[in-house]
Amino acid sequence: MYRSLFLASSLLMIAAIFSCSSKSELNLHDIHADLVNGEKIYKDNCMLCHTGAIEGAHRLDQNSRWQESAEKGFDQLVYNTVHGYRGKYGELPVMGMCSQCSEKDIEDAVAYMLTHAGVMK
Ligand code: HEC
Repeated sequence: MYRSLFLASSLLMIAAIFSCSSKSELNLHDIHADLVNGEKIYKDNCMLCHTGAIEGAHRLDQNSRWQESAEKGFDQLVYNTVHGYRGKYGELPVMGMCSQCSEKDIEDAVAYMLTHAGVMK
């Protein structure tokens, strides 16, 4: 009896570990982003900082930094971009400095960046 309880709880723990680790794996299919629009928004607004690594902004080829960000989940990254975010590397301004962007534009741009950084498939 105790043995099977132990077994059941170990299985639950294993299941919990697996469901946690799959959380940080981002999947483009769940998001419905328009990557063509995302690329345009990125090039017009975000590239300025994110290509030159200005003030601590991660370049798209800094995969390990993007991996660290991706662990927060897609929605949190969109939230941080829309509302602005001060992290340990620098400051991401409100709406990534794109005052005419909609929230959907920001979602598309974040999806484009995560895809090109290799942390979203
Ligand atoms: C003025 C420079 C600047 C511009 C313009 C900018 N960013 Fe950033 N961004 C940053 C910096 C600096 C960070 C790193 C913050 C940190 O982790 O300390 C960052 C981080 C991010 C992150 C990761 C946030 C996190 O929580 O890890 C995302 C997503 C992001 N930017 C998206 C965008 C998008 C989308 C745009 C364009 C609409 C944009 N950024 C424009 C400076 C900028």
